[in-house]
Parts: sequence; C-alpha cells; structure tokens
Amino acid sequence: MKVRGTVRPPGDKSISHRALMLAALAGGGTSRLEGLLTGADVKSTARVLRQLGAEISTVRDGSTVTVHASRISHPASRLHCGNSGTTARLMLGILAGQSFEATLTGDASLRRRPMRRVTEPLRAMGAEFTAGRSDALPLTIRGGRLHSLTYTTPVASAQIKSALLLAGLTGRVAVTIREPYRSRDHTERLLAHLGLGLHERDGAIVYEPAPDARAVVPAFQLAVPGDASAAAFLVGAATLAQGGELVIENVGVNPTRTGFLVVLARMGARVERVNLRDAGGEPVADLVARPGSLRGTEVAAAEVPTLVDEVPILAVLASRAEGETVFREVGELRVKESNRLELIAANLRALGVEAEARGNDLHVCGTTRPPRGRVDTARDHRLAMAFAVLGTVPGADVRLSERASVAISYPRFFTDLRAIRETGKGKRER
Ligand code: S3P
Repeated sequence: MKVRGTVRPPGDKSISHRALMLAALAGGGTSRLEGLLTGADVKSTARVLRQLGAEISTVRDGSTVTVHASRISHPASRLHCGNSGTTARLMLGILAGQSFEATLTGDASLRRRPMRRVTEPLRAMGAEFTAGRSDALPLTIRGGRLHSLTYTTPVASAQIKSALLLAGLTGRVAVTIREPYRSRDHTERLLAHLGLGLHERDGAIVYEPAPDARAVVPAFQLAVPGDASAAAFLVGAATLAQGGELVIENVGVNPTRTGFLVVLARMGARVERVNLRDAGGEPVADLVARPGSLRGTEVAAAEVPTLVDEVPILAVLASRAEGETVFREVGELRVKESNRLELIAANLRALGVEAEARGNDLHVCGTTRPPRGRVDTARDHRLAMAFAVLGTVPGADVRLSERASVAISYPRFFTDLRAIRETGKGKRER
C-alpha cells in the first residue's frame, strides 16, 4: 500500500486523565479542556470523578469538556475504573488525601494488575486499605491525615509517581520521589504549569504544598495535544508502506514519550518533526512519516520508560527489519492490559516470525515473508492496533481475534488506517 494525506491522532490519554483529575480538584470555578481523548479509559476517569461530585460535561469528539469543581465527597457506590490502570492508580493517590472511604474496582484485566506498587507508599503516608492479600482491585481506601514521604520507586512508573504527587497535593504534604529511570512527566508539567509547588532537586521530583493552607488548584483551560502513542501506529503504517507520505498533525513530542522516534531513527525509518510549538507546558509538533527500510537494533533498558506503550508496534516493525532486534528489560509488559511480553512473541510466531521472550528481554528476528495467521489480542488495544498495522504489508493475512478494544485509546483507529491508505487507482479507500 501507499500512504497519503493528513491525520490527527486523538487526544493524549495520559494528559487527558490528569487534566480531568486536576480540574475536578480545583478550588472552584470552571475548567475548559479541549482535545480530550474520547476513548473508554478517559470516560472511566470522568465517570469516577462524577461519582465523587465533580460536574463534567459529556466527553465527546470535537467538543470542549467543562469541569465544574466542587469539593469531592464520599461516593454512593463503588468506583468502576473499567480497563484503566491510570484511573485506578492515580485515583488512589487523590483518595489518599480525603477523609472518607471509597472502593475501587475494574474489569477482569484491571483486577489482575498490581496495585501494591501504589498502596505500599500510600500506606507509608498514612492511608489505610482493605483488600485481599495482593492488594489487587477491588480495593477499599480510607484516606485522611497524611505524612510527607521521600520514596524511591522500584520501577520507573509514571502511575506510581503521579499517585504519590496527587496524594501530596490532596493531603497537603511534601513528597520527594526518585525513580530508576525517568518516566513520563505529564503530572509534573501540569502541576508546574498551574503554579503548584513542583520542582526538581538533586535529580528528585519534589512537591511542596504552598505555605498558605488556603492555596488551591486554580480552574484552568488546556488544549490537550495529540497522543504520541496513538501516532506511533500511524508512523508504523507509513514506515511499512511502499510509497507516499503521511502528515500526522498535533502530536505531543514530550521526550519522556518519544523514545520510539529515537529507536525508529536508529532502525532507518524516515520521520521528521515540523512546526514544533508549546501547548500548556507540553511540546507539540507535526510528524511527516515516509516509508523506509529498517534494520534491527538493541533497545536499552534506560530507553524503555520512554517507549513502554510502543513496544508492540516497535516489535511489529522489527519483524519487517533486517536482522534481530532486542528489547532489554521489558518485564513490565507482563503487567499491562495483557501479558504483552508473551503475547507479542506468541502472536509474531503465529504469523511466521521468529520471536521469543528470554527472561525479561524480547527478541524479534526480521523476515520478508508475508505475515499470515491468527492473532490473539486478548482485548488489549495496543496489540490489536500493532497487529492491524502488520496486516497492511503486501501479501499479509492477519486475522485479529477482535478489534473493539481500540475504543480504549483510539476509537477512530480503523477509520484512520483506511483513510491514509491509497489504493492502486490513486484514490483513498473507503
Ligand atoms: C501511564 C503510564 C504508563 C503507561 C500507561 C499510562 C500514565 O504505565 O504504560 O499506558 O498515564 O501514567 P506505568 O506507570 O505502569 O509504566
């Protein structure tokens, strides 16, 4: 196929969650959020915040979402976080600073995901939990008076870091965090953008509440940039195409998110960033992606936090590269929406590609044979999108077990993927 045209990825998922949460915590007034992701995960955050008393307008494409903050209060029923790990973990941080009890739950995938990485440091701050042995959801939290915390996270996780910063904010206590590698820093940027006592000291991230106890989160306006992780699938499709050029507009290019562009450049892909600008403290650019021939590479452990959600699409691209690609220390992929580490390898093998998880490393050998076979997405949106992109190569026959999961982070994915493909007649496919 050839690619052509201009496409806008949906709003950034991570920033959308954070914007809704901080707007709901504002000390009054109405916040206006533009370009918010309309995917199911962000709707889960909106629903949970509404259950806690925030007035949030309908999250729908093309409309500005308004958030009218009022003091959050005890919910009448369980807070259902759907499939969203970010909703569950960041809400635990917010709830740690509240003096009421709330129970969080989620779908089958989320109920299997580890929560102790957040409950443990929140316990150290003074929050109380009632849960099963592993602290998995469903989980009841009782927050209240918190103490300050200095903490080194065992894994580089923006969800852990953000939960603790939000606990500091709602509990009005200082929090100092160190992480093994720098994870995405959207929470820090948004707190700093709103003037909320966030700085770096000796390599640590430090939140300090304002000395004036009445100081509160201000209501704000924000234009959410396009999601780099969603854009990565479009970049992947353009890279594998046989000709043409694709413009992907309004993409967040925060360096803690764009490790995939660094790795792709090393592999020989041709992606340019143009029109670099700033939106609410986040760098934004348009990407111009062209087909390229790829060679294998080694992705270092230090790079992984900057591309953690892009391993599925990078592995798919590695399967079309010359030689072997190794992703070092990607064990965290076992506890994402699915066991992505095993499923990437197993699905590539099902399509005739040599791929294997060895310990915490993922090895993929490139081939020129057309991929043919059935893919088990395990209802994981990023697996569905990555393997759909692989299905665009000439001669491919990639059958996905389902496609509906893309609604989690990129509801228009299949429409956009069709629209950017040029048929032999030089027309867009319908
Ligand atoms: C996210 C952080 C990452 C990422 C997830 C979104 C966030 O998870 O995989 O899709 O918005 O903070 P971890 O913090 O578990 O690495």
